[in-house]
Amino acid sequence: MPELETVVREIAEEMRARPDRGEVASYIPELARADANAFGIAVVDREGRVVVGGDAEAAFSIQSISKVFTLTLALGKIGDRLWRRVGREPSGSPFNSIVQLENEHGIPRNPFINAGAIAVTDVILSGHQPRDTLGEILRFLQFLAEDPAIGIDEAVAASEQRTGFRNRALANYMKSFNVLENPVDFTLGVYFHHCAIAMSCRQLAMAGRFLAHNGRNPATGFSVVSPERARRINAIMLTCGHYDGSGEFAYRVGLPGKSGVGGGILAVAPGKASIAVWSPGLDASGNSHLGRIALERLTQRMGWSIF
Ligand code: DON
Repeated sequence: MPELETVVREIAEEMRARPDRGEVASYIPELARADANAFGIAVVDREGRVVVGGDAEAAFSIQSISKVFTLTLALGKIGDRLWRRVGREPSGSPFNSIVQLENEHGIPRNPFINAGAIAVTDVILSGHQPRDTLGEILRFLQFLAEDPAIGIDEAVAASEQRTGFRNRALANYMKSFNVLENPVDFTLGVYFHHCAIAMSCRQLAMAGRFLAHNGRNPATGFSVVSPERARRINAIMLTCGHYDGSGEFAYRVGLPGKSGVGGGILAVAPGKASIAVWSPGLDASGNSHLGRIALERLTQRMGWSIF
């Protein structure tokens, strides 16, 4: 087996040099400022060793990757009752699609498409003040990453507040089916802000450790969720984490993964490692183009595919 350090270094070098970089997201105007040439990777192995390459310390907008952590919190709050409010099947549709909601009583297909994540945020909010709920999400990430220096990029949050008409439509539509319990503006405010959390590859890979190790942080021994819950979150990441690109991601990478339109991907190699990659250019499904290729290289060379 090749050395992880060598593999990570070679991947970072290859990705830095590649001319095909995808398209940086611009529907949230502030995200369009990201540098298309950036590439970062961080891998935390079972022993707690962190191996980094490229721009692994640069903070970027985690966007939909935050949905893994809000799902974890919502399951912690109401357990399997969550599945009355949101499904767990792949949608085969783009992340911001509205079409299924009409025929399916306003219940989103899964917690990772925008509609589903808004419903999950509504569960965490459940009557609290938006500011308190946001604080809870942030503190959870800071605790998982063992790093208090994780915050919200207010410019990104404001940019999405101004332009998030589609999400507003999804939320109002779900509200009309009584799938949302809180005022739509409260739920959306928390959703836009948790998507605007900024983290580096190192911080994200650290935060994902519990998913790679049966719900426990192997460094501290602290249990975040039960082994069964970790397995289930990973299953949803595998089947739904890349929206209509989830099949392709499983085919090429073979790991549970969650993407964000900021160009990040958190991937989980069960029993082996938690991995974060970042490159802002996206493919047609809104997932990081080079991020996916980098993960494909990593799993091939390390033999880490779950299949
Ligand atoms: O709601 C949105 O559109 C964004 N805040 C998040 C979408 C996203 O990250 C999709 N992922 N690739």
